[in-house]
Amino acid sequence: MKVTVVGTGYVGLVTGAILADFGNQVFCLDTNEEKINQLKSGRVPFYEPGLEEIVKRNAEAQRLIFTTSYKESVIYSEVVFICVGTPPKRNGEADLSFVKSAVKSVAENLADYTVVVGKSTVPVGTGEKMTELIKKFKSKRAKFDWVSNPEFLREGSAVFDTLHPDRIVIGSESEEAKEVMLELHKPIDGLALLTDVKSAEMIKYGANAFLSTKISFANAMANICEKVGADVESVMDGIGYDRRIGRPFLYPGIGYGGSCFPKDVLALIDIAKRSGYNFKLLKAVDEINKERASLFVAKLEKALGGLGGKTVAILGLSFKPNTDDMREAPSLKVIKMLRERGAEVRAYDPVARENARKLMPEATHCVNIYEAVDGAEALCVLTEWNEFKEIDLEKIKKLLKNPIVVDGRNIYDPIRMKELGFSYFGIGRS
Ligand SMILES: NC(=O)c1ccc[n+]([C@@H]2O[C@H](COP(=O)([O-])OP(=O)(O)OC[C@H]3O[C@@H](n4cnc5c(N)ncnc54)[C@H](O)[C@@H]3O)[C@@H](O)[C@H]2O)c1
Repeated sequence: MKVTVVGTGYVGLVTGAILADFGNQVFCLDTNEEKINQLKSGRVPFYEPGLEEIVKRNAEAQRLIFTTSYKESVIYSEVVFICVGTPPKRNGEADLSFVKSAVKSVAENLADYTVVVGKSTVPVGTGEKMTELIKKFKSKRAKFDWVSNPEFLREGSAVFDTLHPDRIVIGSESEEAKEVMLELHKPIDGLALLTDVKSAEMIKYGANAFLSTKISFANAMANICEKVGADVESVMDGIGYDRRIGRPFLYPGIGYGGSCFPKDVLALIDIAKRSGYNFKLLKAVDEINKERASLFVAKLEKALGGLGGKTVAILGLSFKPNTDDMREAPSLKVIKMLRERGAEVRAYDPVARENARKLMPEATHCVNIYEAVDGAEALCVLTEWNEFKEIDLEKIKKLLKNPIVVDGRNIYDPIRMKELGFSYFGIGRS
């Protein structure tokens, strides 16, 4: 099939590259010229394992074409995906200005029957509004159907997730559009859930809100475990091995971040409010998440007996491992608080260093773990990169001025840390 993917970010580029790999002719369109030029020269503008190889292979085969022009792409396409950002406004509401602008440009360039697919995460009712917008701007002869096809990929494993999704949600009022989507997704190994547009829109927010709830629940439990002397990791194992509950996402730590959970929780609270429902549960999820960074800093402050003039080594800056995405990364809050309290920060992240340097020029950005730790008075783990799990802890102990480790992701074993002579503070572990 001929496909246009509008927006070449984490979602759009992965979607476009994989559809091209299946043999489709794909135009990847973005209004950001710099990004398109980078892609044309074979460089992926962000870190996503396995993606660059697929992009290169398909660009060379001319199945993947990068463009800034709606005219040179949409006209030829049977399916157009909208994958632009939907950042939060100040009040938590999703900002749909990028979606509206992209949909208007698509509408103006529709030729024959086209399936227009919303992949961006959008509030319920957006499909209806976009359908009206397209009708307003399309030519008389152009025909289209709207599909809501929310995306569930995770940054860091986006290629795998796209090839092996738990489900593919296809929401549409048109049988023809559903058929086109099923045909396009045939090579993908995942259960197709056919539904209406509004339900599809709600599924995405519901999924992210529920996953965020699991994380905040684990964090609330961690707070209690610390007070009563229990180990939250054992508690989460004991709870999570119950198949009705499940262990994934019962992750106590410094809170969820990234470009999705924080904004989608706020957006669903806003959607609920507009529909006349006060979503108290989700408000608590957000509140619990917001206090994680300050609880973490308080723990470090107590361990060090104050932060003024102290040097702190930070391992991990991206909001999660295997990505260089710094959007809403908890490290931003933690480092800001450390600086406000007079601490010096020496940070290291395997891939987010350049992005982080721009956002946190006040921190010293080191090129490896040992450089960050050398001479620091405490070590903090903020992102659970694999390379931090097997570090030479004896060497770390020698390099640190004080053998203090505050582990925001519970990657180390408290017993081993004690045996090695560290003052070790995890999350929810006394
Ligand atoms: N990142 C994720 O892990 C993830 C997962 C699932 C769903 N989502 C959702 O998918 C959507 C996209 O997220 P993302 O992380 O890929 O965003 P992103 O910010 O990485 O990329 C968005 C891209 O859209 C481009 N763009 C903006 N306006 C445009 C326009 N009018 N025409 C063409 N291009 C335009 C931007 O230049 C940018 O390159 C969001 O709604 C997000 O909530 C993201």
